[in-house]
Amino acid sequence: MTAANELLSLAGETVLVTGASRGIGAGIAHALGVAGATVVGTATTEAGAAAITERFRQVGIRGRGLVLDASSAASVGNAQKDIDSREGGVTVLVNNAGITRDNLLLRMKDEEWDSVIATNLSSVFLTSKAFVRGMLKQRHGRIINISSVIGAMGNAGQANYAAAKAGMVGFSKSLAREVGSRGITVNVVAPGFIQTDMTSSMPEEQRARLAAQIPLQRLGSVDDVAGVVLFLASRAGAYVTGETIHVNGGLFMV
Ligand SMILES: NC(=O)c1ccc[n+]([C@@H]2O[C@H](COP(=O)([O-])OP(=O)(O)OC[C@H]3O[C@@H](n4cnc5c(N)ncnc54)[C@H](OP(=O)(O)O)[C@@H]3O)[C@@H](O)[C@H]2O)c1
Repeated sequence: MTAANELLSLAGETVLVTGASRGIGAGIAHALGVAGATVVGTATTEAGAAAITERFRQVGIRGRGLVLDASSAASVGNAQKDIDSREGGVTVLVNNAGITRDNLLLRMKDEEWDSVIATNLSSVFLTSKAFVRGMLKQRHGRIINISSVIGAMGNAGQANYAAAKAGMVGFSKSLAREVGSRGITVNVVAPGFIQTDMTSSMPEEQRARLAAQIPLQRLGSVDDVAGVVLFLASRAGAYVTGETIHVNGGLFMV
């Protein structure tokens, strides 16, 4: 039998969290760092990366910030080289970076479609391909992809976002089958409505109406999502793969 704190310990793991400058990614980086992992958290700007390094230093998390455009193969390639040489690869990859460019389909511009698919879905292909090689060598790894309840429910005005988020699920199941024999798990976490910059533009009245439809009667916090990611990254989640865990307060029950 293993003690609960050992089951959830990430001592010895090296984690990469994309989009760790704020919101859910910042919460995930914090939770995994506090659990003992070395964490590389990414931002799209030098200032954002420096702020992550400083945040980690202040709370005693081992790791640093790094600039990454997850939609760019060149940027992912540079990040891989940098992390391989400084941290010796990653054992836990959390694909969290994401954007929205909402519009009804008939008004949706090519750029709105392309940028959401590139940032939210092609990024997962690029980072997984770049970092799974090191995991294969170590015969140990975790890939955790942050999708959305919208990928399962759909939402008017978000055909691009829903397509990307649903695409992650099929991608993750396929990769889980490819790499399971090497001790690597691949899972999806699908948050509902979480209080971050992404939802803060919603008018207060709309937010209250939304909360009333959620069985748990509130929007989620970043910790609600980070706790599930910690479970999947740790030994506690070792026998879970190809799975999607919904973290939505009961808004949508699969
Ligand atoms: N909030 C919700 O209710 C909710 C619900 C379901 C799913 N999600 C998903 O959860 C994830 C995080 O959402 P959030 O609400 O925390 O978002 P957020 O507060 O808007 O933060 C987005 C993060 O992604 C980074 N990012 C944006 N474009 C990027 C790119 N091209 N390459 C690398 N990083 C990039 C941002 O970096 P910068 O700070 O440098 O811009 C930031 O760190 C997203 O995938 C989102 O779709 C969110």
